[in-house]
Order: sequence, then structure tokens, then C-alpha cells
Amino acid sequence: MTKSNEVLIFDTTLRDGEQSPGATMTHDEKLEIAEMLDDMGVDIIEAGFPIASEGDFQAVSEIAKLAKSATICGLSRANYKDIDRCWEAVKHAKSPRIHTFIGTSPLHRAIPNLNMDEMAERIHDTVTHARNLCENVQWSPMDATRTEWDYLCRVVEIAIKAGATTINIPDTVGYTAPVESADLIRNLISTVPGADDVVFATHCHNDLGMATANSLAAVEGGARQIECTINGLGERAGNTALEEVVMALKVRGDIMPYTTKIDTRKIMSISRRVATVSGFAVQFNKAIVGKNAFAHESGIHQDGMLKNRETFEVMKPEDVGLAGTSLPLGKHSGRAALRAKLKELGFDLADNQLNDVFVRFKDLADRKKEVFDDDLMALVYQNDAEDDRLKLKSLRVVCGTDGPQKADMVMEVDGADVETSATGDGPVDATFNAVKAIFAHGARLQLYQVSAVTEGTDAQATVSVRMEEDGRIATGQSADTDTVVASAKAYINALNRLLVRREQSEPGYDVKGVSYKDA
Ligand code: KIV
Ligand code: ZN
Repeated sequence: MTKSNEVLIFDTTLRDGEQSPGATMTHDEKLEIAEMLDDMGVDIIEAGFPIASEGDFQAVSEIAKLAKSATICGLSRANYKDIDRCWEAVKHAKSPRIHTFIGTSPLHRAIPNLNMDEMAERIHDTVTHARNLCENVQWSPMDATRTEWDYLCRVVEIAIKAGATTINIPDTVGYTAPVESADLIRNLISTVPGADDVVFATHCHNDLGMATANSLAAVEGGARQIECTINGLGERAGNTALEEVVMALKVRGDIMPYTTKIDTRKIMSISRRVATVSGFAVQFNKAIVGKNAFAHESGIHQDGMLKNRETFEVMKPEDVGLAGTSLPLGKHSGRAALRAKLKELGFDLADNQLNDVFVRFKDLADRKKEVFDDDLMALVYQNDAEDDRLKLKSLRVVCGTDGPQKADMVMEVDGADVETSATGDGPVDATFNAVKAIFAHGARLQLYQVSAVTEGTDAQATVSVRMEEDGRIATGQSADTDTVVASAKAYINALNRLLVRREQSEPGYDVKGVSYKDA
């Protein structure tokens, strides 16, 4: 079969990305990200791991119902119960896919204690089971790049014969290198019977910083599906970044003549949104979506750019959805100007949402002379919800050289105002102690991160806070011109989310001691 030059984009931000410790998203956030992915032209959205929890199941089911054009995929281990649960969730989609996997390398075979023949039989049975439920089945030999090549060929052939329509070759631990990545796919396609009738996919992790290069090399080798996440979100060093492979194929079509369906102008907005909801800020010098990716500070660069932008830029900022320089808003700007600006930034808000943002905008404009695009985005993405159990009502902090610092706080807890004063080692510590004095909890602070939204001393600070309690992790964010207020709000936001998680949580399904054929 002659290969088409179209590369399918399989986004796993909501599964492999969200699996990263601390990157957990709420149900509504998952739906919102899925809608953005669908809208930007992602071919397949891996929406979650339905057996993992009731929350994951609900999210995958709902995304399946809402998706307009993307195929909706769920992940399942190699047992019938996982696969059935996955099918129950994805079956609502116009185009559903079951993705089932098992670790095939020597180290991974040792985990379920299966020998090569036993594992081969399990692959045959589980892929057959999945295919009896769904016409679109993806199979992955986890840790493929450390699996013996002859055994890999053997199990890929079994999966194809059992009905898999996509064969994904994961570099689970980010171990391969570009030449090997291309060779592996090329070798599989040329030796495995039936390989021409399925799509080969590449799924790379970034432990050695080679995920993008390895994915592109796999395409050269014959893969036609790249698995990736927005901002490269994912465990350890993350997954292949969607924006990097897509823009590399677009910009270097001269030497990599492959196309994708992605509307690249939507990259920046989804990148920002994923950074906000996951709590994983994008590093400033990150390719494509980093704050500095299109900034030209040095004199030589600026001079060159003014004469001809191609001197130092291989792509246009507009291509990834970065609006050209635009005038900031100020305290005299009205609702119409705000609406127009938000529209330009890609937000089409309903009237009630616009009203909320307008109130916050006026409040900010009173404190800050110029309100820039990034400030507005931080306002739109404020995380407070009407039904939050904890709300900050007021905060006054005394700090100075002769500590200890003191925070006077009023917080609403389940509708009632509670007041306290607390001291601490610095204003933020005093503030967090005040929250704890009002609402005692056992959650542990895992991350506290502050960054400035724009330049200048009146810039808003965005604060991310990650908390952990009994293995449950929640991230909170907030932005304010006052760093301590932003810190308090982010901390309270994380606590609110942890409380929701505490109420909803249930143990994940454990397959130990269950036969893989039990349904
Ligand atoms: O990295 C990996 O091997 C995976 C599989 C589940 C596909 O994420
Ligand atoms: Zn992975």
C-alpha cells in the first residue's frame, strides 16, 4: 500500500499528560481541553484511562459524546475488564477507539511474570476481545524500544492478525535515538506480514531530550501517527510536544514532506490553557510556545529583525496564534473594547462570563496603568468557582525587617466568615498559616511557584500551588498585582480542589489476582 503523506496527530494530554504527578485536571477542565483539541484539528484524542477511576470514566464518556470530529480513544490494560470499561466510555463517540497495551520488554514481561509464549497468547486474546467490541483498535507493546526485535515482530504480527488497526511503538523510557527510531519502524513495516494494512504510530518520551527528533525520524521510517501532548506535558521529562512536531513538519516541509490537519494558529491558546489547568508552567525558552520563543532582546537581533524578520525567525508568530503587538487596555476602556480584545485573543465569552471578567478587569485597571493581553488571559482563567467551600474575604499582611511577619485574614468557610491572625517566616508563610488556622488540614505543600505575567513593578504575579493529601494531588492558581494575595488565593484554590477530590475519590481498579479473561 502506498503511504499517504498525511501524519495523524494523536493527542494524549488528557491521559499520558494528566497522569504526570500534580498535573491532574478537573472534569470541566478536561472537557474544555478536549474541545480545544477537537477544534484545532487533532485526529485522535486519548481522553483518559476509563478503568482508573469513576472520574476518568465519566470524563472519557462525556468527551466521547461531545467530540465533533476527532476519534475518541480510551486506554486499557491487557485484560477484558479494562477493555470492556474502556468500550463503555468511548462507545458514545462518532468515531471510537480502544487502545490496549502490555509491556513486552524483558523487564516489563517480568512484572506479570509471563513468559514469551504466555504473553503472546494474552496479546492475541485481548486484542481479539477489543476488536469484537470496536472496529478501531490500537495496540501498544509498552517499552517497545527495549524489546528484542524478533519478539517485537512476533507480537506485532499477532496483534495485527487479531484485528489491531493501529500499532503504536512506544519509547516508554525515552531511550531510543533518531536513527534507531526510524530503523525500528522501517524494519517492522518491511518484515511483519500485514504491516501494510495498519497505521504505525510513534509514542516518545523525552528523557534524553530526543522525543521530537525520534518522532520525526519514526515518520521517516514509515510511521503515520505521532502521539504527543500539548507543551510536552507528561511524566518525568514528558512526552513529545505537539507544537514542536507539528511546526517542524510545517516549517521544514521541504525536507519532511508530510502534512497534518492541525490549525497551528490555535497552538498558543491551548498551550496557555494547558499550562494553567495543569499547573505546569512553560519554560521561557521552550520551543514554539515559550515566552521568549519570539522575543528578540539583543541589539544585533533587533536590528536584523527590523530590516527583515526572516533574519532571525523561521516562522511567523501569527502562525502559532501569537497576535502582533497590540495596544494595552486601561481603566477607561469599556465593555465593548474588552469584548473586542478578548475576541482577538480567541475568547468568545457569553454575556454573563464577559460581565464577570469586566468586573475583574476594572478592579485590575484601577491598580495597574496598562492591562496587557497576558493580564487579560490571567483574568479570564481565574479559577474561583461559585460553589467553592473556601473563599478569601480579606487579607492584611505586616512585613518588614524585624519579623515575624503577621497575616490577618477573613475567610468564608461553607458560607460563614471566620477571622484569624497568624505569624510566619515571611509574609507567604504567615498567610498560609492563617489559612491552616481557619481551616485545619493535613495536606502537604509540594510546589509553590511565582512568575510575573508581564514586565514592570505593577505586574500581576501568577502563583501556582500544588498540594498532596493521602496520594491525592491538586493544583491551584491565581493572579494578582499583590503577590501575597495571589499566593493566598492559589493556596485556597488548591485546597478547594483537594476537597472536591476527597469527596469524589475512590480507589482505582486493581487487576491483581483477577484473571485477565474475567469481565
Ligand atoms: O509510554 C508508554 O509506553 C505509554 C503506553 C501506555 C502507550 O504511555
Ligand atoms: Zn507514554
